Amino acid sequence: MDMMESSMAGEETRLLKKHDTIPSSNMHQKYMNTSSGCNSGSNSTNMNEEPFLSFEKNINCNTICVVGSAPNFSYGIIDDIEKLSEITIKHKLYLHVDCCLGGFILPFLKKEKLLKEKFDFELEGVTSISVDTHKYGYTPKGSSIILYRNSDVRKYQYYINTEWDGGIYATPTISGSKSGAIIACTWTSLMYHGISGYTKIAKKLDLLRSLYVCESKKIDGLDVIGNPKSTVIAYRSDKFDIYLVSSKMIEKGWNLNILQNPKSFHLCLTNLHLINQAKNDFINDLKESVQYAKIQPNDNSKGTAAIYGMAKNVPDKSIVKEVATAYLDSLTEK
Ligand SMILES: Cc1ncc(COP(=O)(O)O)c(C=O)c1O
Repeated sequence: MDMMESSMAGEETRLLKKHDTIPSSNMHQKYMNTSSGCNSGSNSTNMNEEPFLSFEKNINCNTICVVGSAPNFSYGIIDDIEKLSEITIKHKLYLHVDCCLGGFILPFLKKEKLLKEKFDFELEGVTSISVDTHKYGYTPKGSSIILYRNSDVRKYQYYINTEWDGGIYATPTISGSKSGAIIACTWTSLMYHGISGYTKIAKKLDLLRSLYVCESKKIDGLDVIGNPKSTVIAYRSDKFDIYLVSSKMIEKGWNLNILQNPKSFHLCLTNLHLINQAKNDFINDLKESVQYAKIQPNDNSKGTAAIYGMAKNVPDKSIVKEVATAYLDSLTEK
């Protein structure tokens, strides 16, 4: 797409030769391939903190959209969407909020007064929101929702070609044919759980998150990154190799996401963690894994520690890219 239209309420349509989307920091990679890649540093991880002023400086005449996360994938931290809303109103820009990961549970926490942060259409600047129903909506994989403030914003996702010899071609999304079965199953799951079902799960997950955060903070040398308010808790350490902790945890059967720059990992809470046994086991296993990392500081020859250790030591990152390509090839070739 080399030419893009952009119009804000009350504004004339602007034709942009090149468009910029500015992601807030720690934005999911999905947005990086369509953005200018400037970071707002709008979260509170203390690792990437730049004032909003410097974020505003990234806005230029090609900018049409800012993307914020509620919460972000890596650390489960909710960007200051209220501030982003003020900025985007001031500069007449779209503001997309990525609620794809733990964002589904936020409205239920809000309803129960367990969350203060504003992140949705109650903020005037928010023009669109994405939510993955296939995560905390417990619907089939491949179902996701994009919500728009109004139809004026929505119409830009349509693809219409009136001149095609196959007829007038009009699709509401970038993808063409898709299965109606997923939509039907999604609707059924949403109706099955309903507002009361989702509220019940959200409250339990919220309680578990605060328990895990509180207990994790008592573990010497282990840092919880930022102030997570949803279902993702990320860990790092200045005292030992955090990848030794994640390797040990994975060995014990925990499913974790490994993060880099800086070295860290996160746990994404689901209702499986609500089972009594899991509740206690996680903190006990975490304590044991930290202990292991402290007494075996050089055991980084296997698991995640080995993979990421090796990748970090390769000065030419194109080699790492080649290895990743070979891995993807191996999934698709016989
Ligand atoms: C915060 C966030 N945004 C966007 C995405 C992309 O979602 P998908 O891969 O389902 O398109 C994810 C996926 O995990 C995510 O966690």
